Amino acid sequence: MTLPSCYTLPMKALIVGNWKMNPATYKDAKLLFDATKKAAESAKGATVVVAPPSLYLRELSKGYRGKIAFAVQNASAETTGAHTGEISFAMAKDARVEFGIIGHAERRAAGETNEDTKLKVKMALSEGLTPILCVGEHSRGTSGTHFAFVRDQLRTGLMDVEPANLKKVIIAYEPVWAIGAASAMSPRDMHEMSIFIRKCIFELHGEAAHAVRILYGGSIDATNAPAMLTEGDVSGLLVGRASTDTTHIKELLQAIGNA
Ligand code: PGA
Repeated sequence: MTLPSCYTLPMKALIVGNWKMNPATYKDAKLLFDATKKAAESAKGATVVVAPPSLYLRELSKGYRGKIAFAVQNASAETTGAHTGEISFAMAKDARVEFGIIGHAERRAAGETNEDTKLKVKMALSEGLTPILCVGEHSRGTSGTHFAFVRDQLRTGLMDVEPANLKKVIIAYEPVWAIGAASAMSPRDMHEMSIFIRKCIFELHGEAAHAVRILYGGSIDATNAPAMLTEGDVSGLLVGRASTDTTHIKELLQAIGNA
């Protein structure tokens, strides 16, 4: 693929595979991890992070010293205590996790609020993890209300972050209508949204906003990833379905390497 001269891939695209509640067994998780590992080792243009179900994490990370980093799909804003069913960011860190996905649309649909994401971003940072704060509107009309919606998510979610810590924060813009959909948002629309996201963070925290990394997520695969990375003004991608299929993840990482 020949790129127009004004567009270049980000130095190394950050590709975060969100496995969600997949695969059904640890045996298959190991197979998927091994395939991802192989693809990541030969991937030229990408740094790969995987977010398996937390029950598989420690076993997958044990003894692994390769290029892939690990993320949790969610963790509590509390440290320890009577919180049945929860895990903490400290526990994740103890399992060699470096990133924490926060406020994914599917967690928000289950009741997570902007206030919750604020506490989780703060907790992830204080445990030394990199928060990946997910934002994105449910639908788009012509009146531009989606911008106000995303601004609210950013303003509350990042309210307690010290400006100096913004370089450790990642924003994943995932329009809910493009998650699990037939096609992704256009790179042109993502470019506009990236500028808007940075402007919102600038209003909140000033110049340090330039240090925040922005990812796009929603129906990314090998066919649309290169264009999103070159034209969408993003540092990487949050990938659901394509990250849970041994062939698709390989094709995706190859497509990025060939771009
Ligand atoms: P998808 O999921 O790539 O399957 O659309 C993305 C996500 O929910 O993070």
